[in-house]
Amino acid sequence: MQQTILVTGATGTVGREVVKQLSMLDGIRVRAGVHSVIKGENLRRLPDVEVVEMEFTDPDSLHAAFTHADKVFLVTPFSEGQVEMAKKLIDEAKKRGVKHIVKLSAIGAGDENAIQLCRWHRDIEQYIEQSGIPYTFLRAASFMQNFENYSSPTIKSEGKIYMPTGDGKVAYIDARDIAAVAIAVLTNDGHENKIYDLTGPEAISVSEVADTISLVTGRQVDFVDVPEEDARKSMQQQQTPDWMINSLLELYGQHRAGKSAEVNSSVEELTGHKPHTFRQFVKEYKECFV
Ligand SMILES: NC(=O)c1ccc[n+]([C@@H]2O[C@H](COP(=O)([O-])OP(=O)(O)OC[C@H]3O[C@@H](n4cnc5c(N)ncnc54)[C@H](OP(=O)(O)O)[C@@H]3O)[C@@H](O)[C@H]2O)c1
Repeated sequence: MQQTILVTGATGTVGREVVKQLSMLDGIRVRAGVHSVIKGENLRRLPDVEVVEMEFTDPDSLHAAFTHADKVFLVTPFSEGQVEMAKKLIDEAKKRGVKHIVKLSAIGAGDENAIQLCRWHRDIEQYIEQSGIPYTFLRAASFMQNFENYSSPTIKSEGKIYMPTGDGKVAYIDARDIAAVAIAVLTNDGHENKIYDLTGPEAISVSEVADTISLVTGRQVDFVDVPEEDARKSMQQQQTPDWMINSLLELYGQHRAGKSAEVNSSVEELTGHKPHTFRQFVKEYKECFV
């Protein structure tokens, strides 16, 4: 029998890749939960994908999205309200008899002295554990696509990446590899009540990120190591909310201190293929950087 898998945050960096990869499989009906209907238009063209509107704070939209869903790939946005949003989703999943929740989490969520954004993820993880619904937590490292989503404007306009991260190396992961793991976990048995840390194949500094973009695109890109206070002022000037500034600076502090550099082989073990290198990522996303 066809099973229905609901993907929340289906237009986001990882969510849309999960929808795309699931839509290529037989025997699965994908329900893409989209916040912005316009952003979700592209997903309608994929085979066996049903697009439903979801507003995480609106119980009626949750009710519709979760009805007859067998499994859920749970993504909530980077937001100070994400724990409350996620709790509503988990309550609804429980009411609807969902059999497996695969949650996109963040590496470090299990650490004793976890940073704020990881503590939010751990709060959500604990709520899922207490719900009794079988779960798998995918604790991902920072996405390579962050350079597409957030650094691409200054790369294109000035040939610069501004970040307060010094020489700190990070085991960046390609969102497509996280999606591939999600597919493996959602469509095979044996991953219930497991937690996986997911990293890319190498740890690199932002200076090496800039060098790789230069090499692949043929256009000089430089890393500018910004003092933390300057980064704060710049984000304040862009009207970034305080909670976001504080949690980003905390994250960048971890990067600077080399605490996000550990590499593991989980992606290959879980999917059977090697994760994308940063160089491969830039080759395939070249147009975002020129
Ligand atoms: N970025 C990283 O490096 C990284 C690393 C590890 C873990 N994570 C975690 O991954 C998750 C996704 O982060 P991201 O930055 O990748 O986000 P993202 O791509 O922007 O995805 C968030 C999704 O949630 C949707 N959404 C936002 N508010 C919503 C609401 N009120 N109701 C329904 N849907 C809503 C967005 O739709 P609209 O755009 O239409 O609002 C979008 O599809 C976060 O929990 C983050 O902490 C991120």
